[in-house]
Amino acid sequence: MIPMTLKNMPLKNTPERWGPISQLLHWTILVLILVMAYLGLTMTELPNGLDKIRTYALHKSIGLTILGLVTLRVLWRLYAGTPEPVPGTPTWQERIASLTHFALYVLLFAIPLSGWVVNSSAGFPLQWFGLFNLPAIAGKDHDLHELSEVVHEVLFWILVALVFMHAAAAFYHHLFQRDATLARMLPRGWLSSGPKENHDVA
Ligand code: HEM
Ligand code: HEM
Repeated sequence: MIPMTLKNMPLKNTPERWGPISQLLHWTILVLILVMAYLGLTMTELPNGLDKIRTYALHKSIGLTILGLVTLRVLWRLYAGTPEPVPGTPTWQERIASLTHFALYVLLFAIPLSGWVVNSSAGFPLQWFGLFNLPAIAGKDHDLHELSEVVHEVLFWILVALVFMHAAAAFYHHLFQRDATLARMLPRGWLSSGPKENHDVA
């Protein structure tokens, strides 16, 4: 039997808030990005050996998982729609938020794809958690390898900068504007979001 709370909870996004699927994808990708940042920034310094090979393989597998999850996330967004802007948000803030979100999506595709090019142009095989092989997306090419390494790293640092801005904006909305921006990306009831979420009561 499905509990009443689950039965009444729409999976899709509503005009007021993000639904559980969008929330799950958002926060799972955040956690995976943190793991990837740690692996990426430490693995290049590891001494050559099995540990290094295993860490690279893990980095690549999680990176491909992010690529799959972000594809799902965009498809789900197309199907499930998006909430309307939080009431009271000035138009200029909405525009910057939309631009930042768009850039974050572009980076979530471009970073793993550039990593895939790093791998393919080095002529290395690619597997997903040792379960199956993926094709090369570029031929073996030394110059392309060097270039894609730089691109992969630079895009990562751009992502870091944007995520800091993005998270700061979310906390600013929550703490100072006291609106529902952050609360509506979290399960209902996790955060009380001040007087402006009154429109959001079930
Ligand atoms: C969102 C996903 C990803 C993130 C956030 C990420 C992040 C990073 C970071 C921070 C580094 C270290 C850069 C440096 O200091 O040189 C790195 C290196 C690397 N990444 Fe990724 N990565 C992602 C996906 C992938 C994927 C899918 C692949 C391969 C299929 C991949 C392959 C590599 C390789 C081979 C290196 C080492 C490059 C070198 O030796 O300089 N990455 N990644
Ligand atoms: C502590 C870290 C983070 C916080 C507090 C946070 C918070 C939020 C909030 C509150 C929203 C909803 C905004 C709204 O309804 O207008 C949102 C949306 C979004 N977040 Fe985050 N986020 C964080 C990290 C990340 C990371 C790491 C990424 C990607 C790498 C990311 C990508 C996005 C995207 C693309 C959207 C737009 C969703 C859409 O329009 O489909 N966020 N975030």
